[in-house]
Amino acid sequence: MKSISYDTAPGRETHMSIQIRNLTKSFGKLTAVDRLSLDIEKGEIFGLLGPNGAGKTTLLSMLAVLMTPTSGTATVDGNDIVKAPLAVRKCIGMVFQGGSLDNLLTARENLQLHAKLYGVPMEVREQRIAEALELVELTSRANDRAGNFSGGMKRRLEIARALLHRPAVLFLDEPTVGLDPQTREHIWSYIKKLARAEEMTIILTTHYMEEADLLCDRIALIDRGKIVALDTPDGLKRRMGGDRVKLGCAKACSAAMLARIKKFPFVKSVSQEDGQLVLVVNNAPKHLQKLLKIVGDVEEVHVLPASLNEVFLQYTGREIRDESAEADMQAMVSGPGRHR
Ligand SMILES: Nc1ncnc2c1ncn2[C@@H]1O[C@H](COP(=O)(O)OP(=O)(O)O)[C@@H](O)[C@H]1O
Ligand SMILES: [Mg+2]
Repeated sequence: MKSISYDTAPGRETHMSIQIRNLTKSFGKLTAVDRLSLDIEKGEIFGLLGPNGAGKTTLLSMLAVLMTPTSGTATVDGNDIVKAPLAVRKCIGMVFQGGSLDNLLTARENLQLHAKLYGVPMEVREQRIAEALELVELTSRANDRAGNFSGGMKRRLEIARALLHRPAVLFLDEPTVGLDPQTREHIWSYIKKLARAEEMTIILTTHYMEEADLLCDRIALIDRGKIVALDTPDGLKRRMGGDRVKLGCAKACSAAMLARIKKFPFVKSVSQEDGQLVLVVNNAPKHLQKLLKIVGDVEEVHVLPASLNEVFLQYTGREIRDESAEADMQAMVSGPGRHR
């Protein structure tokens, strides 16, 4: 794994939006975030990608001063999360799970309430609300009650609300979980717009590989409270140094056959996914023939570049995907307008 250097030379600090040092959160015996260190630059869209239970929400909660760390330090836009929680509050926006919209209020009233709570000056309030509604394309629904909105519209309204006080840093905890593919793509495009237009630092957690891959400038793969790899999406995939080969087999492979395949020096990993054998292979075109001979009844062959799931598998021996993610991914892959 690439070592992470912490350059503390003067001047560099000013480009840093977030600095995390040995941040730890324990719940009794469980260490949810484990001596984690990380620097995030201004204007980055930074992804925390890992399976459920990896510690993503706990990390975000500490940075958003919703939870106090057990040990370690972090600054957000120069403000210490333990020593200056109020200053942190003022410079962040957040969209967490289990939204907190008032369903009885209209979209506009929800925004007005938040703007007042955050002390957005009266003379710019209405202007900011109009801009935020525009960004998430809810202008025409501004006077409808939030309680009548779909899940996707609610999420969009929550994003709009988080922007009203012009935060330097925006935290998004699983921003598209449970949303349909089209809504998900919409939200991605708002997030990209924001990072470009406002130079806002955006930190999002996700267990969707595609989301991290398409959206983020850099990704930290998180497992059991630790960063196991950190790079750009392409950088992470290049580390696999291999192709992904999917073999559609007539019947499931035996354990003995898998063991034989694993012995090949050009095979980096093997797994089975819904009747398909998925391998990461060095120079697939050269070695494919040997694999086909062993596997036998192969009905389909696909050779693809490695995905973040394989990278995660290589670093942790486990996969990011779980059952719920699997079902969601299926919907994404078969959704309209998705060509990968
Ligand atoms: N308030 C809490 N009390 C006890 N355990 C918790 C609490 N919050 C999270 N955990 C545990 O910490 C681990 C990390 O959880 P979480 O940060 O929610 O993971 P993720 O967001 O990556 O799914 C999990 O094992 C979870 O059960
Ligand atoms: Mg979470």
